[in-house]
Amino acid sequence: CGIVAYVGRKDAAPILLEGLQRLEYRGYDSAGLAVVSNKRLKTRKVKGRVADLAAAVPARFKGTTGIGHTRWATHGAPSDVNAHPHLDAGERIAVVHNGIIENADDLRRRLEADGVAFVSETDTEVLAHLIGRAVKETETLAEAVRRALKGVVGTYGIAVLDAERPGEIVVARNGSPIVLGIGEKEMFAASDVAALIRYTRQVVHLEDGELAVIKADGFSTFTSDATETAKEPLTVDWDAGHYDTGGYEHYLLKEICEQPDTVARALRGRIDDRFHIAHLGGLNMDARELRSFRRVKIIGCGSAYYSGQMGAQLIEELARIPADAEPASEFRYRNPVVEGDTLYVAVSQSGETYDTLAAVQELKRKGARVLGIVNTVGSAIARECDGGVYLHAGPEVSVASTKAFTSTAVVFALLALHLGRVRDLSPAEGKRICDGLRRLPEQIKEILTLEEQIRELAIKYSDAPGMMFVGRVRGFPVAREGAQKLKEVSYIHAEAYPASELKHGPLALISPELPTVAIVPDDELLDKNLTTLEEIRARNGRIVMVGHRATDAADDCIVVPKNENELDPILLTIPLQLFAYHAAVALGRDVDKPRNLAKSVTVE
Ligand code: G6P
Repeated sequence: CGIVAYVGRKDAAPILLEGLQRLEYRGYDSAGLAVVSNKRLKTRKVKGRVADLAAAVPARFKGTTGIGHTRWATHGAPSDVNAHPHLDAGERIAVVHNGIIENADDLRRRLEADGVAFVSETDTEVLAHLIGRAVKETETLAEAVRRALKGVVGTYGIAVLDAERPGEIVVARNGSPIVLGIGEKEMFAASDVAALIRYTRQVVHLEDGELAVIKADGFSTFTSDATETAKEPLTVDWDAGHYDTGGYEHYLLKEICEQPDTVARALRGRIDDRFHIAHLGGLNMDARELRSFRRVKIIGCGSAYYSGQMGAQLIEELARIPADAEPASEFRYRNPVVEGDTLYVAVSQSGETYDTLAAVQELKRKGARVLGIVNTVGSAIARECDGGVYLHAGPEVSVASTKAFTSTAVVFALLALHLGRVRDLSPAEGKRICDGLRRLPEQIKEILTLEEQIRELAIKYSDAPGMMFVGRVRGFPVAREGAQKLKEVSYIHAEAYPASELKHGPLALISPELPTVAIVPDDELLDKNLTTLEEIRARNGRIVMVGHRATDAADDCIVVPKNENELDPILLTIPLQLFAYHAAVALGRDVDKPRNLAKSVTVE
């Protein structure tokens, strides 16, 4: 979901709509906004997209203070009524909210018993009524919000408007991001810097438990017990250009095509040619400490988790430290054994995924050392970790992750190199990896020239009801990410399996109706993989091979340039991104905003 708030001298509605458009990738089943005009609230909300909301807002929707929201339903189905903002009974207070109020049912029952009539099914409306009641008894809106939140259990990022106080907005954060944007005689707040970037680069991130009052001429922040906090503004280096499609038909394709640059940026200044090591200053750990870890555990969700699997393999191969990856969403619920000699690494493009953040917090609580591999500077996960590495990939707008995936894998290669070089990886081996890393951007460019061939294959196979993705060892995370991309954007069912496991079950599925995408790198497992292809063919399965040399054993082959064995998975992923993209386009899907998904899931 997305929040945006404006207070200044201009009309709020166009600014809010523009901000909401930028946030739409975070959730998009309904949208709404409210402004204050002559001490009255004006609101509009619709089920559907921000464009539908824009069409519903009349030209004369005046007011220089306002809040807006784009929603991804958790409580209550998408509808006009359930869309935010929500108002209190007196229609004085308007609230937009990201997150989930856990004791909403309880609070609702109590308010209803007190005679409050609810109009929606949302947990957010509870907040509006609570603040609406508190505001009558307090001197300031901030105090009312603070008081109302005292009885609330759950996660929230909220923005609150009071019809009686045009010229100010109160925001609060607990588990769901809120960032303030500082303008010239105007202030903004949003759940994501994407909404602010057209207006200002000066931002302030709120911490959990923090509240802020924004007015045209400034802001103040304080804790839930009303102690003022001092915040230093941060300058964001992303620019508005990242938020348009730059001549491409979709963000997804634009971001796939950015990868030669984003990979180069992930590497810039980080390869040391003298010692063949990586410069990763943000780790905040010296060689002695890095040597002390006996295990590496990587956590993340979705594609971040799959890139973590790729990372675990790189670390095991190059540093010979046992490493594995696990979905952060699972990790946090199973009371994991946290060991002092394990290095934990959290992966997140947005830096705000709630499951990953909660896992990091649990780890920190248990005294673990946690590094973050994060794209968004200053995000919650980045702040929570002991140190880490930023991807510098620029904002990723398409819901399906591409450039953040490859940049994460590249950063893992650097980390693996680094961990290896403080152990037994020789300078010569270190040099081999450094040289390989440097070749990646050019090789990605070469792969992108295969787009037309891949497009034709995607069209050819897009009528399949499902697809199998197989890969062995290094190829397995590639297969998983390939299947994930296809599922997310084309809605074709896709299953990823280790090639070695095929004969232990899923071979029963193979038939002409279920084509297989096989990852077949030219490494020590080539013969084994070719045998797998023969097994599939013997069951009349159709095969698309993605690898380094064409083979008659497959119906179609996508041949990519070869790098070092350890780094090949990064390159092998790219044709699968293009394949998923073109299959989705062929099927007429909403490529950048697939149904039921949101870019960052800041709820549990
Ligand atoms: C959501 C998105 C996925 C993404 C995952 C992790 O589920 O739909 O595309 O991989 O979150 O996001 P993060 O920002 O933590 O990398």
